Amino acid sequence: MTRIVVVGSINMDLVTQAPRFPDPGETLLGERFFTVPGGKGANQAVAAARLGAEVALVGALGDDDFGQRLHRALADEGIALDHLLTLRDAASGTASITVAQGENQIIVVPAANACVSPAQVERAQALIARADAVLVQLEIPLETVEATVRLCHRLGVPVILDPAPAQPLPAAWLRLARYVTPNQHELATLLGADPDEDFRVLMQRAPCPVVLTRGSEGAWYREQAAPIHQPGFRVAAVDSTGAGDTFNAALAVFLHEGLPQAVRKACAAAALSVGKLGAQAGMPDRSEVDALLARSID
Ligand code: RIB
Repeated sequence: MTRIVVVGSINMDLVTQAPRFPDPGETLLGERFFTVPGGKGANQAVAAARLGAEVALVGALGDDDFGQRLHRALADEGIALDHLLTLRDAASGTASITVAQGENQIIVVPAANACVSPAQVERAQALIARADAVLVQLEIPLETVEATVRLCHRLGVPVILDPAPAQPLPAAWLRLARYVTPNQHELATLLGADPDEDFRVLMQRAPCPVVLTRGSEGAWYREQAAPIHQPGFRVAAVDSTGAGDTFNAALAVFLHEGLPQAVRKACAAAALSVGKLGAQAGMPDRSEVDALLARSID
């Protein structure tokens, strides 16, 4: 079984569905409100587990009601939580998400996620050394992301860095990642480039191998020379929150099949994930990915 370690955030997603986004200073009547488990790290862990991997999560929760619910949800997915800290008198991370007209806007309050430290990652060294791949994102302190990337490089374990939410990162440690998986906006931010610049040119300029996500248009990746396009899969989209996380998880789970096949399966898994409301609700299992691939000519 493929072993995946995720170092990352865990949030309670506070989701409001609305007919449109409000203007600054405006109050709107929404259509629906619900709370569901989310956070980029937790989402990637859940997606990888549903795809059949053995998954462990390195992260932190508060000792509040959200924390208890998030802990239970992760345990129910079969994720190993020995390196998950519950912090006393701390709040769990939250994400206030508005979903309107097929788009979303998100404000994340890291809370306990801000306490995931380089020392916590060091304590997970033995776990990480046994992993087939490690996933890390940017909702935990950057020094912890750096420590993760450096440790994986030292141990020879492939690390996939999802540079979201967008931030500029030092080229010195981007180079240590096996793959960096930005969308177009995140790639421009990473490189301090103009967001309107051709992403294929930016991909060539990046100091690391890039797998670029393009939403419904699929993904682009580079093996040797020019970037290659993997088209997206046609699906009815309800909520794209968590699609990027599903993509990253699938890329890690299927990496041993080679990059082209892993990217194809990641696009299929991400497409399936947008079929339900909530970041984790639509995340598919392996048989759903295989079925979509079998009926699609891409
Ligand atoms: O990537 C989607 C996630 O981003 C949401 O679940 C939310 O928690 C934010 O972290």
